[in-house]
Amino acid sequence: MTRVALAFSGGLDTTVCVPLLEEEYGYDDVIGVTVDVGQPAAEFTEARETADALGLDHHVVDAKAEFAELCLEGVRANASYQGYPLGTALARPVIASAILEVAEAEGCTGLAHGCTGKGNDQLRFEAIWRDTDMEVIAPVRELGLTREWENEYAESKDLPVEGGGGGKWSIDTNLWSRSVEGSELEDPSYVPGEEIYEWTQAPTGETEEVEITFEEGYPVAVDGESMAPVALIEHLNERAGAYGVGRTDSMEDRMLGLKVRENYEHPAATTLLSAHEALESLVLTQEEREFKELIDAEWAKKGYEGLVDAPLVSALEGFIAETQTRVTGTVTVRFEGGQARAVGRDSEYAAYSASHASFDTETVGKISQEDATGVAKYHGFQRRLANESIARLAADDGVELTTDGGPAADGDD
Ligand code: ARG
Repeated sequence: MTRVALAFSGGLDTTVCVPLLEEEYGYDDVIGVTVDVGQPAAEFTEARETADALGLDHHVVDAKAEFAELCLEGVRANASYQGYPLGTALARPVIASAILEVAEAEGCTGLAHGCTGKGNDQLRFEAIWRDTDMEVIAPVRELGLTREWENEYAESKDLPVEGGGGGKWSIDTNLWSRSVEGSELEDPSYVPGEEIYEWTQAPTGETEEVEITFEEGYPVAVDGESMAPVALIEHLNERAGAYGVGRTDSMEDRMLGLKVRENYEHPAATTLLSAHEALESLVLTQEEREFKELIDAEWAKKGYEGLVDAPLVSALEGFIAETQTRVTGTVTVRFEGGQARAVGRDSEYAAYSASHASFDTETVGKISQEDATGVAKYHGFQRRLANESIARLAADDGVELTTDGGPAADGDD
């Protein structure tokens, strides 16, 4: 008796995979696994009803807490890939690992997904699954299936693929982001209407302020009320979404090299990323901030690739963790005009001295305004010399080199 575990959503692709795994790949038994990373309730209903109609052994695994924790690692890394906070991307390794666990417990020898050969998800799933000896199967990709063929096949087999889903759009939703692609959106010049959005309202003139508390770079409370990661993200999605926060429309460079038009909604992610960066700007030194941008960009890239368990990521997180020991404090964010703008920040670790920066004080400790005079004399010195020689050459009146080498070469400045 051979058994294969299928990543199952109840949509058209994964539904046609069920009989195909038996007919084309010779498995005796298919089990469907749906992993909960915060999809809307309707998706679980669809998955359960379709599984029932197919007579499929269906498992649902709750991975919301684990996924939320990974999203918050993303916050510590200010993670954004081309403006996308990586909802789908970060969810895939979590889903793949959860399915693998079920497959092992159920004695499966194969793992299957319904991804096409064009997207990123096939790569993210398989990176995890190919760590094992199990057979990895991608029927849609391997059999070259099209939506049209799948619909005809489903009809001929009387498979339960009625309606549901999001109509003409291809949608992927979890706690961290909602992605909408396909249909008219494939034309980059097509301007979508409000109907593609579900989490965000078009911004009105209304505003609201929210206070977010961080401990070592992790958001832990909203308006002074402690919240666990899942609840905190859900709360901010609702709250910031009402002000149109977190809409992104991008031409995304996928791993295979294709560009794809993507629309996203991610109110909580935008709010938390904006607040977190504001707090870092207060507590980290300039050199830490500049270097961390490089680290953060690498983290986001590995996150996009679905490779958050790479040794590189642990190394990056070592640096990130070191910096985050001081990212503790509170940020006030204002939802305004579709933005989540930090409008106040406070931390006992601030690398900031109001008395040193103030226009109202002359001497603080051993530093006074006139100490800057020497710095001002040197500032831009090399460029002064270089520009002088450029001007000399341009004048083209013979070679007359007069270099005195002193810092105040031209006297007053
Ligand atoms: N392009 C995004 C990613 O690779 C999201 C894709 C979501 N899929 C969808 N059918 N909307 O992470």
